[in-house]
Amino acid sequence: MRTETPVAVKLADYTPYPFDMDHVELSFELDPDATKVTAELKVTRKAGAGNAPLELDGEALKLVSVEIDGRALTPSDYSLTEHGLTLADVPDQFTLRTVVVIAPSKNTALSGLYMSGGRFCSQCESVGFRRITYYPDRPDVMSRFFVTIVADKEACPIMLSNGTPGDVKDAGNGRHTITWDDPHKKPSYLFALCAGDYDVYRDSFTTMSGKHIDLAIHVDKGDADRAAWAMDSLKRSMTWDEQTYGREYDLGVFNIVAVRDFNFGAMENKGLNVFNSAYVLADEDSATDADFEAIESIVAHEYFHNWTGNRITCRDWFQLCLKEGLTVFRDQNFSADMRSRPVQRIKDVIRLRSRQFAEDAGPLAHPVRPDNYGSIDNLYTATVYEKGAEVIGMLRRIIGEETYRKGMDLYFERHDGQAVTIEDFYKCFEDVTGKDFTQFRLWYAQAGTPRVTVEESWDEATKELTINLSQTTPPTPGQPDKKPVPIPLELAVLDGKGGTDAWMTVLDTAETTITRKAAAGRPLLSVNRDFSAPVRVERDLTRDQRLALVVAETDPFNQWEGVRTLVTEEILKLSEGSQTRPDSELVGAIAAAIRNAGDDPALAALLTRLPEVGELFLEREPADPVALHSARKRLQAALAEALSDTVGTTLEAPSPAPYAPSAEQAGVRAFRGACINLLGASEDKDARRKLLVLYQKATNMTERLAAMRALTMHGECPERDEALADFETNWKHNPIVMDKWFAVQAGQGTAETVAELAAHPEFDLKNPNRVRSVVGVFSTANLAAFHAPDGSGYRAVEDIILKADAANPALAARLITAFEQWRVLEPKAGAAAQATLKRLQEAKLSPNSADIVGRALG
Ligand code: PHE
Ligand code: ZN
Repeated sequence: MRTETPVAVKLADYTPYPFDMDHVELSFELDPDATKVTAELKVTRKAGAGNAPLELDGEALKLVSVEIDGRALTPSDYSLTEHGLTLADVPDQFTLRTVVVIAPSKNTALSGLYMSGGRFCSQCESVGFRRITYYPDRPDVMSRFFVTIVADKEACPIMLSNGTPGDVKDAGNGRHTITWDDPHKKPSYLFALCAGDYDVYRDSFTTMSGKHIDLAIHVDKGDADRAAWAMDSLKRSMTWDEQTYGREYDLGVFNIVAVRDFNFGAMENKGLNVFNSAYVLADEDSATDADFEAIESIVAHEYFHNWTGNRITCRDWFQLCLKEGLTVFRDQNFSADMRSRPVQRIKDVIRLRSRQFAEDAGPLAHPVRPDNYGSIDNLYTATVYEKGAEVIGMLRRIIGEETYRKGMDLYFERHDGQAVTIEDFYKCFEDVTGKDFTQFRLWYAQAGTPRVTVEESWDEATKELTINLSQTTPPTPGQPDKKPVPIPLELAVLDGKGGTDAWMTVLDTAETTITRKAAAGRPLLSVNRDFSAPVRVERDLTRDQRLALVVAETDPFNQWEGVRTLVTEEILKLSEGSQTRPDSELVGAIAAAIRNAGDDPALAALLTRLPEVGELFLEREPADPVALHSARKRLQAALAEALSDTVGTTLEAPSPAPYAPSAEQAGVRAFRGACINLLGASEDKDARRKLLVLYQKATNMTERLAAMRALTMHGECPERDEALADFETNWKHNPIVMDKWFAVQAGQGTAETVAELAAHPEFDLKNPNRVRSVVGVFSTANLAAFHAPDGSGYRAVEDIILKADAANPALAARLITAFEQWRVLEPKAGAAAQATLKRLQEAKLSPNSADIVGRALG
């Protein structure tokens, strides 16, 4: 599995699988070191498939036997490679029976069947099933699965797979057995098996047609109480999908299993979702409001996949956005309905800009639907997920909510049980609207973030505002020239007295001019309201014009956006030295905007949060992370001073009690957290002592963690050390909480901090959450230290990445993406980053990591 640079797979090369495989029986005799897997496949040659051989994928399997219709084959009857098993002459219809042995305890890649916390667990998306048995491991081969599990009674009292369970029966020798039958045809990537000893949190749900569903969340011993929020989120998701999309759950049981070792957030296996335990377990003591929010949205996301992903799946992995973009769009709207729509929109945009815009601007840029890939695990990107969701949002905005729902209804009706493409999806919308979406689908084919330039002029005589809109999309790797895309822009002219004349324009040419009549004097123009399109808007406005716009603005997203733009410009000026101290008038205006938002504390909190260094990277080239970080800190300190009264009164008031994870309370705590954070930036001599008291008196994790983080912002000091030591003593037995302890330090410290954390006895290279809490946080949220001009930050992570890569390529490849921006960095850091990438390239890397390094170096 070591360095061979992956060969590109191309969308244009797609060919259907020549066989149908509509019935599969799998039998597992579970053993950590030697699990025996027997697979019986009912195979039928497709009409017109000629005499194609039967090709099955398989990796890291020990083949024991192959039989066709009960007749044992010998090695001369088939060809066996590291990547699979091929049978040249097979009948048109037959039963294939294979027996293999696998070793879950040795599987550190966390793909296929592996052990986590002493329990069996599987992960098959995208290509993990081939590490379980020989099979056509591609999403367009859909089959009905029957699964038998045999396991030790004591080690595995609970044995789970997809579908509906039969009775547990004795199997002799201290073992027992169960069968699972999944009536819905599915591709191999949705298969799952989990077995072990769990505590179970149970509940039930009655669907809109009155069907009873048993719900269960399986967690580590002693953790059951902490699954209550995930369960509540699941039931609300089920109701929401019925009410919003008319979609009902389709099995009698729905199981969730929480595992400690997991490469992503969670996985939507049919009827058996597997979760990273960080996205299941929560209570007020151990979880922050952000954790509660993330659990709610990920539980919803995986549940929503049951229709957008499972019932209708992807024809091939190029279509990944078909399920992911759409399902992210669905979960974002669920969260907006559960909480505050404008606040949700702002958070989604922050995430989009910091991850996806950055990806789109660098060497790893790729279209929402790529047309080739080197390594499939590297396809799970912000572009596929987040930009993919934005594109669905634009579709809905253009055709309207009702028509969107009609198109979705048609999609579910027409393609249920199928593996389809983006073209199939858009055909449904073409059929309900009678419109042609060919140009719109450019959003799937062109990489890069479009720029929209807005120019305006005012004619006092005619009282007309003339608005000139133009678009360009910058070149990206392999795509030098771009065509105009349809960009839905929500616009409004504002009279400054609350009067709003709003409309939507779809900019689908390179340039267009619009005129708008105003009743009285020159109005202010509000553009891309609600962030109606994922573009960069360029406008040449003075600071005074921007300030006036913030005051006049009636769209909550753009209110935030206006402040954001002002703050960004100020940080840039400070970082470039064209200004040494934050402008007091501007600081006063921001402070006023924050105070004015007081009746919506969640919004006030977002206004208080300055853009992260990473978000400022796109604004200037070359980017100087150290200068940006210091400029940001100076502005933060000035803001802390201007708001010191507000901070004082806010933090003197008690935290809401009794605690509830509700959006309302979370909003109040978010603003309290923002105030705590300001104390972290404050030059007030007493700030550290205040923070230590806040840490000690905190009644929930949200504020306790905020205080500890704010203390680390002050660098080394006794108060910080005391909080960190106390936290470690209290939480050393809870790995999810300890991840926060690691992350807080990696997020503020230096290369040395990373070395110390990596040497900590609880640092575990095999646990992705722990590795990410140190290396991932350091390299994405502590950019001044990661991109230190002397290269110390890179050296601190290089060795960890190499070691992680040997065990878990998917994890390491993701960590390496932090280097993607080396070209836009100031020359010293840029050269050091490039040199690191070159050293990595020379090392023996996994194909996953080699793919990222190769593309990053370009
Ligand atoms: N399909 C999962 C999701 O987004 C993500 C995932 C991909 C998980 C690959 C594990 C492995 O919901
Ligand atoms: Zn998903």
